[in-house]
Formats: sequence, structure tokens, C-alpha cells
Amino acid sequence: MQKPEDNRKKTLDRVISQAGLGSRTEARSWIGAGRVTVNGKKVQTPDVWVDPDRDQVSVDGRPLQAAAKQYLLLYKPKGYLTTYKDPEGRRTIYDLLEGIDERVFPVGRLDQDTTGLLILTNDGEFGDYITSPESKVPKTYLVKSSQRLSDEQLDQLRKGVVLSDGPTRPAIVNRVRDSEKYTFFEITITEGRNRQVRRMVEVLGAKVLKLVRTRIGLIAIGDLEIGKYRPLLPPEIAVLRKPSRSSKRGHRDDPPGASRSGTSARPANASRRRGRNG
Ligand code: URA
Repeated sequence: MQKPEDNRKKTLDRVISQAGLGSRTEARSWIGAGRVTVNGKKVQTPDVWVDPDRDQVSVDGRPLQAAAKQYLLLYKPKGYLTTYKDPEGRRTIYDLLEGIDERVFPVGRLDQDTTGLLILTNDGEFGDYITSPESKVPKTYLVKSSQRLSDEQLDQLRKGVVLSDGPTRPAIVNRVRDSEKYTFFEITITEGRNRQVRRMVEVLGAKVLKLVRTRIGLIAIGDLEIGKYRPLLPPEIAVLRKPSRSSKRGHRDDPPGASRSGTSARPANASRRRGRNG
């Protein structure tokens, strides 16, 4: 697909996503399902170039309107699903978002029992950037494991372990403390595969008893109360959009901030496209 010379043009899926209706993946599925028209004609390929200022794009017969962009940071409590609706009627994060008009969607998911930071936005491009493994946005978790873990076990996590969907990238791992039965440690990963941290710990023969996402890039929980949300500030959004140092330097698998010794491992495996969690 050749990029047109008219640089106002964007692909149809991107235009729908930037209007705040959903992610590009969702947009592509609506296009494929025949729900999208451009200037009154049904279009079923997402790679069509359109000029958002001149072409009339409609979804389900409703013309797109540029929605005001929203960026929120939620401290997700345990027991809430990161989905829009649950057929079984369980609580979802949308139960916590009273007063939010635009349809914001979560940037990556957290498991039902995971707590911590979750970004919500109606800016599909931003969401795609944060979740794409290529962007290497680091996410930090505090973990309580079901047993005490040795230095060697934590080293395994640093170097990367092999999961059913392939080896994990090197991670930054710091022991926080041990109790008689448990180890508390912090792990920073730059992917976001389904249940990734839990599955990594299972490779060690242990289980995750508690999982809290404490940081996304440079954004930390701070004094945000559990179950509450706040808008992300423009400088926070800007800093999240910045490519990490490691992607600019070209060390493809190093987490940003990984030191050359001690807490980080040498690159051990290839990067993977499109983790969908976290
Ligand atoms: N890793 C997990 O295992 N679960 C999450 O919710 C996020 C990261």
C-alpha cells in the first residue's frame, strides 16, 4: 500500500480510531463487517486512504465527529474486569468511571485479580503506541510469590523464560523483601502478553499471590486512591509518547534503564509483535 502524496490522508482504520470510537483493531473489524461507509459507499478494506477533513466517514450510518481526547489514569481495584460489559454481570472498570462521557477504552488489560495503574483513553493511536511491544513502554509490577524465590530464580526472570507463546524479553527484577514464606519483588517488562507476569512466575514453580502494577513508563501510582481515577496531565501524556532510550539506541531487547550488570540480563531473545495485555 503506497502512502499518498497528500499527507492529510490517513488509512480508514486510523481515522476511525482517532475519532475516538475504539482501537484500530476494533475499527478494522467494523470495516470488515461492512459497517463503515466513505462518502456513502461501503468500504471493507482498512488500508484505504481517506482525508478526514473532506471525506465523510460513517460507522453504522453515523458520521464520525472528532471527539475531544481523554486520557485517564485509574487505580484498578481487585475483582474488576477490564472489559466493557460482562455477560455474567460481574463488576467492570466502567463501574468506576462515573462522569466520563466519551467512550474511553483501557490501554491493555489487567487480570481481574490484578490491581494498579490502568490508562484509559479514546485516542486509539496513543493506545496502540503504549501497548505495542515495539514501543517498549516499561510496565512495573510488585509481585508477592507463593514461595521464597532464590537469586537464581530471580535471575531466570531477568534473562527471560520460555512461555507457551515464546521466550520473554529480559526484564528488570529487584527483590524487595522476603518473609518466612514469601518473596516480594518488583519486575519491569516491556511486553504485555496475556497474564505474562503470572505465567513467568509459574515457570519457576511458584504462583503469584498478589500483583500490583505500580508504574507505566514514568507514571507512578503516587497518591491516587484505589478505585479512583484522575486525568493524565499533558506532560505525562507527552512523556509516555516518547520512544524509550533503548528503542532509540537500538538495543532491541533491553528494558529501558536496564543496567549492564546486576539487575538486568543480557539480551537473550527476539522481540515479539503485539502483546495484547498490560
Ligand atoms: N501480568 C499478569 O500476569 N497479569 C496482569 O494483569 C498484568 C501483567
